[in-house]
Formats: sequence, C-alpha cells, structure tokens
Amino acid sequence: MTVLVTGGAGYIGSHVVAALARAGMRALVLDDFSNSSRAVMPRLERLAGTHVPLVEGDVRDATLLRDTFARHPISAVVHCAGLKAVGESGERPLAYWDVNVNGSFRLAEVMGEAGVATLVFSSSATVYGQPERLPVDESAPLKPASVYGRTKRTVEDFLRDLAASNANWRIAILRYFNPAGAHPSALIGEAPRGRPNNLVPFLCRTAAGEFPELSIFGTDYPTPDGTGIRDYLHVDDLAEGHVAALRYLADHAGALTLNLGMGRGFSVLEVVAAFERACGRSVTKSFAPRRDGDIACVYADPARAQRVLGWSTSRDLDAICADAWRWQAAGGGYEKG
Ligand code: WQD
Repeated sequence: MTVLVTGGAGYIGSHVVAALARAGMRALVLDDFSNSSRAVMPRLERLAGTHVPLVEGDVRDATLLRDTFARHPISAVVHCAGLKAVGESGERPLAYWDVNVNGSFRLAEVMGEAGVATLVFSSSATVYGQPERLPVDESAPLKPASVYGRTKRTVEDFLRDLAASNANWRIAILRYFNPAGAHPSALIGEAPRGRPNNLVPFLCRTAAGEFPELSIFGTDYPTPDGTGIRDYLHVDDLAEGHVAALRYLADHAGALTLNLGMGRGFSVLEVVAAFERACGRSVTKSFAPRRDGDIACVYADPARAQRVLGWSTSRDLDAICADAWRWQAAGGGYEKG
C-alpha cells in the first residue's frame, strides 16, 4: 500500500515515513517545504532503504492533489501538513484557518473524488484546553484556548461528519500530546526555524551553546515543583501510533479519536534534569513569568489507544532526551535546502 504523507518532510511526518518503511509500507511525501527542508528527503531514503517519491506543493492546491491521486496508487493518507505554533496562531489567524482547515477540506474532497477513504489526521491535545479532570481521556470536553486548537477541533468535527455521512470512510483522529526526541540514527529530528517555541528543542540548543540560557516560564503553577507539567512522548512512539492506526483502519470503518501520550506528566524541571543527565552538561536556566496561554498541567489517559490499537509508548523520558541530544550533537538540523 502506498501511503501519502502530507507534511512528510516535517518533524512528525518524516518520522511517520520512517515508521511506515519499518512496517513494510511505501510512502509518498507531499510537502511545500514552508516549514521543512528538502535535505530531509535523501535522509528518509537512507532510513527507508528505498526511494521515497516526493510531490512538492501545497495541500490547499486541489489541482495538484487531483494530479497526485491520479498518478500514484495511494490507498491511505496520513495528514500532517499544517501550521502548528500555538502562539503564532493568535498572530496569524487567517493563515492558520486557511492552511489547517481549508487544506484538510481540500484533501478530504479530493480523497472522496479519488475513492481513497482511509485517513489518519494529525490533531492535538490543545483541543482540550485546560482539562477539568486528569488524566485526559477522549470524552473530555473540547475547549481549545488558541486559534491553533480551534482549527484542529474544526477539522476533527468535519471529519467525524464525513465518516457519519458515508460508511466507506475510515478515519483516525490522533490527538498528540507533546512529541519530543528524534530518530536514534540522528538522521532526522526536530528542526524548528529560528527560535524554538518548544521546551526540548530549546533545551538542546541551549546545551549546544546557541542560547545563553533556558527561561523557565512560571514557577508558581499548582504543581509539585511549581513548573508546568506535560505528557512528553517519543516522536518514534508517536509515528508508530500512526502505523497502528492504519492497520486498524484496514479492518474498521468509521471515525476513531485517540489520545497519543505516555499517560504521565513531567514538569519542566524534571525534563531539564533528565536532559542534563542525557547530555552530561548542566543547562543554564533562569526563572521567568508564566507564558501567555500556557496551562498548568495536562497528561493523557492513553487507555483507548492501548485497548483499540494495542499501542502504547515504549520509550521513556531518558530515551527522549538521549535521542534529542544525539540529534543536536549531530548538528540538530538540515543543511540549507
Ligand atoms: C512545554 C512546557 C512551557 C519552552 C505545544 C503546543 C502543542 C504541541 C506541542 C502542536 C510548558 C515550558 C517551554 C521554554 C519553558 N504542538 N517551557 N521554556 O506549550 O505544552 O505544547 O507544543 O501540536 O499543541 O501547544 O509545549 O514545549 O512549548 O512547553 O519553560 O523555553 O515547557 O511553559 O510548561 P506546549 P512547549
């Protein structure tokens, strides 16, 4: 089966392509390289041990999508292409609504025309906002507190409507908690452009001397050590969750919504300590005010993914930090391209 991975040159998408190859599935990458590098492609081929075809373009381009489905024997789609910075989404709402919602809409429309009914969608735990109960299971109310989270909830809604309208659709909606780390080969990893928003890439670049210190946003949260708690999961565990979802959809129609997380939380200070153990360096840190939009604590109840897919994380926080540091030490990015 050929799986179209939109955003397949990006952080999550590239790890999904590598996981598909490990599972003996062929991938076709669609990417416009607006937030990724062409240099990922030869590395993906090294990891996959085979050619990984590329369609360069924008997921909102219906003509390009139609041409892609006409030229390639696509039997399923993993849709990772999208804008994903929470803070930025508030500054560029139209871009986020256009790319994340119209892009998903165009893709679903062309899939329907082409008779390709299997879709795995990259959603996010930000659809929950600040949950009332922890751990968060899939029945928790959706109260996204950001433009980004609202775009993800909107796409989820229309995908569930689509599945309800026609029994042919096979859709998995995967709510990612906090993906982190890198493939152990250090060939692919997280390569945010400019100043990273996320904790782990910022930690990596601070330890590598690119930044003088890590600012810890908030030490007065109602948590054991006062810093924010999140559910970090290894990006390869996350990628393998996509493969498990595709296997499940091969035998099950309808829409399935799943939390993908470790099922426990770690505070910022706990992550920093684990990272310092992994890299053998102490990281200069300063304490700063809370970051707008941050919540105190969120972590997943991943029981449904375990029950339905037989999926759970297998890599711990130490592995996340070790693989993240190995990626950083190998350069932590892609040559220009
Ligand atoms: C984690 C913790 C920060 C940076 C976001 C998106 C989410 C998903 C993952 C897309 C928080 C603290 C961070 C720093 C810090 N992306 N922190 N100093 O905000 O939980 O989730 O990325 O799907 O949708 O919301 O991740 O890594 O930014 O923050 O103290 O320099 O680290 O306050 O407690 P977040 P994060």
